[in-house]
Amino acid sequence: MSSRGVVDLRSDTLTQPTEPMRQAMSAAPVGDDRYGEDPTVNRLEERFAELVGKPSSVYVPSGTMGNQIALRLHGTAGSNVVVGRRQHLMSYESGAAGLNNAFQTYAVDDSGGVVDTAAAAEAVAAGRGGFWPPVSLICLENTHLASGGLAIGAGELAVAAGLGPPVHLDGARLFNAVIALETTAEELASTATTVMSCVSKGLGAPVGSLLAGPADLVAEARLHRRRLGGAMRQAGVIAAGGLYALDHHIDRLADDHARAGRLGDVVAGRWPGSRLGEAEAACGRPLTNVVAFRPPDSLGLLDHLRLAGIQAGLLGPGIVRLVTHLDVDDADIERTVAALSAAPD
Ligand SMILES: Cc1ncc(COP(=O)(O)O)c(C=O)c1O
Repeated sequence: MSSRGVVDLRSDTLTQPTEPMRQAMSAAPVGDDRYGEDPTVNRLEERFAELVGKPSSVYVPSGTMGNQIALRLHGTAGSNVVVGRRQHLMSYESGAAGLNNAFQTYAVDDSGGVVDTAAAAEAVAAGRGGFWPPVSLICLENTHLASGGLAIGAGELAVAAGLGPPVHLDGARLFNAVIALETTAEELASTATTVMSCVSKGLGAPVGSLLAGPADLVAEARLHRRRLGGAMRQAGVIAAGGLYALDHHIDRLADDHARAGRLGDVVAGRWPGSRLGEAEAACGRPLTNVVAFRPPDSLGLLDHLRLAGIQAGLLGPGIVRLVTHLDVDDADIERTVAALSAAPD
């Protein structure tokens, strides 16, 4: 529960750094990262690259910047970039993909969590035949937020990667997928050329994301980071929070998933069929720390919860989201269960 006595389920970005994380941050050795001289940033970049099985990685201020840099790395002018219609970099980055680049986004259905591979294959084939623009990149997201945090297995990710063009994986919550699928980040990222993940979400660090890939692309990514104003100085202070999170907060994501499961069961009982991702979860794509659902009156439900001391968010019009994280415990969940049970129809 937050210090305000409110259970805040709007997002997993709302966590406060824990006391040991703050200590690690205050003790971190730092230098000027713009010169490559911050030892803590360097350690974080090495550690992340190792976890996702890529040669190199770069620390960026946000997941959005990591995704946008990846688009610049791969997306050539006049090409098509295939992206799921409801992926973060299509729907929730304020139009940056179109504003910052000279490619076209080719949006395909991703309501089940993965891009429609038949539609992606058609775009690739038509591009090769010279009918449509060539496809320079395919974007995937894992876990897939807009479908309720579905975790996608390496086999399914490989199908899109098998189409030929490079893949960028938005793994803002990749470690939630790792825990839900009992696999490794390296396995899930193995078919992607570049992978981005955030330490500032369920992992509980205050700031930052990492973009990993081949050394030459990461060197180019550093240039784009500078162009976008994302090169930082003594960033080791915040990077230390990320290192602490990678060392201590991955396994505990299972608790967040169990708590979201409890809320999801109550939502499914209260408003049957309203939870996003339920059908896919029944077919083996596990849901993680997001409970997204369409109640009959979404705004009324937000008001009802607020009066009970619970903050919920909206994922889109009519879709309520409850996201579990480091600062939510079992008592908070039971309080939310009681409020959901007492909500008007
Ligand atoms: C799937 C996904 N990708 C990227 C981002 C962007 O991260 P940031 O908020 O750090 O820019 C988010 C943020 O919620 C996200 O959910």
